[in-house]
Amino acid sequence: MKLIDTHTHLFSDKFAEDRHAAIQRAIDAGIERMYLPNICSDTTEAMNAAVAAFPEHCFAMIGLHPCHVDENYATELAHVRNELATGKYIAIGETGLDYHWDLTFKDQQHDALRQQIALAKEYKLPIVLHTRESFDDTYELIAEQNDDTLSGVFHCFSGTADEANKVAKLGGFYIGIGGVATFKKSNHAEVLPDVPINMIVLETDSPYLAPTPYRGKRNESAYLTHIAERVAEIKGVSLEELAQRTTENALKLYQSK
Ligand code: NI
Repeated sequence: MKLIDTHTHLFSDKFAEDRHAAIQRAIDAGIERMYLPNICSDTTEAMNAAVAAFPEHCFAMIGLHPCHVDENYATELAHVRNELATGKYIAIGETGLDYHWDLTFKDQQHDALRQQIALAKEYKLPIVLHTRESFDDTYELIAEQNDDTLSGVFHCFSGTADEANKVAKLGGFYIGIGGVATFKKSNHAEVLPDVPINMIVLETDSPYLAPTPYRGKRNESAYLTHIAERVAEIKGVSLEELAQRTTENALKLYQSK
């Protein structure tokens, strides 16, 4: 069985003591590829070092996380542009909008997302979207700019059936399902049965949102197997089929590299 963790922050300080061991544990568990969404210019170096150590297994994205958009976001976006020019990134991410923590820079978040959508189109790379309490506005910006070249993923999706339908209608967009699907109170058991399996990719979002039975602990890519098991159960397919289909989906989405 092969799986792809499409969203894992393995460069986080939380892995300072055992980063390479954590990546090796994931590889040993069948997580063949790990896609690393960047946060901001402070994390680029650690991310690229992890990728350099495991070039067959780890792949980097470049982008500016909405929680790191502030008055200096123009400088951060210049960093994204400079890095993109190196040609070594598989996606723009992570970007999006976050209305949960702080609304001080809401307008700047919108502008930063618009600029990153334009970069995704220019470089023909998928875009990785964070939509915490902001699905409608993120969706609207994507729908407004959508064309045949734009593709991507609504990461950490825990929305309604209506929202999943809206993502499906965009064409070329996927939903990323993570540890929340294993929580008793999540709505995935109601929503996912009607979502076509060909729009699902798996993710841990490590070090955050560890699946049951590790809930509350540090998350790592090796735990993706627990998420895959739960999604297979909800979808009523074998773990092998779920692994194969979601791996195909991830490879298709990130095929430009
Ligand atoms: Ni993330």
